[in-house]
Amino acid sequence: LAAKYSIPRGTFDILPENSYKWEYLKTTFKKVCETFCFKEITTPIFEKAELFERSSGESSDIVQKEMYKFTDKKGRVFALRPEGTAPVVRSFVENNLDKSSPVNKLFYYGPMFRYDRPQKGRYRQFYQFGAENFGSKTPYSDAEMIAMAYSFIKKLGLKNIRLEINSLGTKSSMENYDQALKEYFTPHFDDLCPDCQKRLEKNPKRLLDCKVKSCKQIAKDAPNLLEYLSDEDAKHFEEVQKFLKLMNVPFVINPKIVRGLDYYTNTVFEFLNDNLGAQNAIIAGGRYNNLVSEVGGNNIPAIGFAGGFSRLLLSLEIENLFMGEQSKPDIYFAAIGQEVKESATKIIQELRINGFKVEFDFEKGSLKSQLKSANKLKTRFVAIYGEDEIQKKSLVIKDFFDSSQEEILVKDVINYFSKKIS
Ligand code: HAM
Repeated sequence: LAAKYSIPRGTFDILPENSYKWEYLKTTFKKVCETFCFKEITTPIFEKAELFERSSGESSDIVQKEMYKFTDKKGRVFALRPEGTAPVVRSFVENNLDKSSPVNKLFYYGPMFRYDRPQKGRYRQFYQFGAENFGSKTPYSDAEMIAMAYSFIKKLGLKNIRLEINSLGTKSSMENYDQALKEYFTPHFDDLCPDCQKRLEKNPKRLLDCKVKSCKQIAKDAPNLLEYLSDEDAKHFEEVQKFLKLMNVPFVINPKIVRGLDYYTNTVFEFLNDNLGAQNAIIAGGRYNNLVSEVGGNNIPAIGFAGGFSRLLLSLEIENLFMGEQSKPDIYFAAIGQEVKESATKIIQELRINGFKVEFDFEKGSLKSQLKSANKLKTRFVAIYGEDEIQKKSLVIKDFFDSSQEEILVKDVINYFSKKIS
């Protein structure tokens, strides 16, 4: 039978058989963040479109072509969030979080939306995890941020991941570099792809990470960003590297990492998995010292990263790594006869309220068919309840762990399972 409705292009369902894997990624990320003393923050999935237009940059792909923008009933223009940093900055400023503490270390996860051409590892609704540090400008905090992402990857057991870092410097180094790029690329203008021709004037750095073959070829000999850093920026970058080495975080320097969002300054980084194909960045981020003030806050430095859960999941699958476990019932409750079943509902509700996972097939009649279900579910315990047991106010408990069977009183059932199931 053909379904009447189909899922929007570029989105996916997380079916029950996979949900626990997502849960595993979320809880592992949370645990890692907590070891670095980051606290969770949750923001809405839509914001004023202007927030993203101002922060991501007018010439970024996100603003140019990927935003899910809509007008509400009062004519306000909103956008489904394409990324998590701008909303967290908005919340940080709006809630004056800097007043309560000079440094704020925050993490989050949730769905993001980008209208892009769907492909493996690239979706229109995807799930990001991310973290941001506000208030610290020391190179140590850059390294700490990168080390946290690295710890997450390590905790998951992933091996084939490469960390690339770069520094974009601050405004003045960036301006000099942009000028040098313009001079370098202009003689090649006719050979650039239409996107790069447009980017050349507004954001020449983006030409360095264009995926089009001919652009890549031209970009090969482009000026090296690191040679344009001011002494201060170069020193910051060296210090970041020093801390990464101290923390045992392996990295390579790639002067061509420029990132697709406009808010970055100084350190930028990407964790890459080449086995994923074209969409190989699993975690990416960098410093953004001007964004908080641009969004209306104080002059507060910040750094962060975000990563895609689906790309992580693909990476784990490729490396055949264990990903948590699907929850299964502790007890299968087999009751025989309509009246007995009715009486059973009371006991089952009591068990569930006390935290036991109990499966019960109200519609299954015979004991045999119920035992078959229990067997299929591989529950450790089966509780059998029939006419005899009702009379005796008891239950027969089969324990498949040691193949034992015993009869207990209904009034002792919670106590009994509390001892058996931790
Ligand atoms: P981003 O590089 O745009 O940065 O995205 C970060 C990560 O999100 C990517 O490396 C990728 O794993 C995942 N991702 C992005 N787009 C998609 C998509 N369409 N489908 C699946 N996964 C995707 C940011 O979003 C910045 N907010 C990161 C940041 C935080 N910088 C500072 N703080």
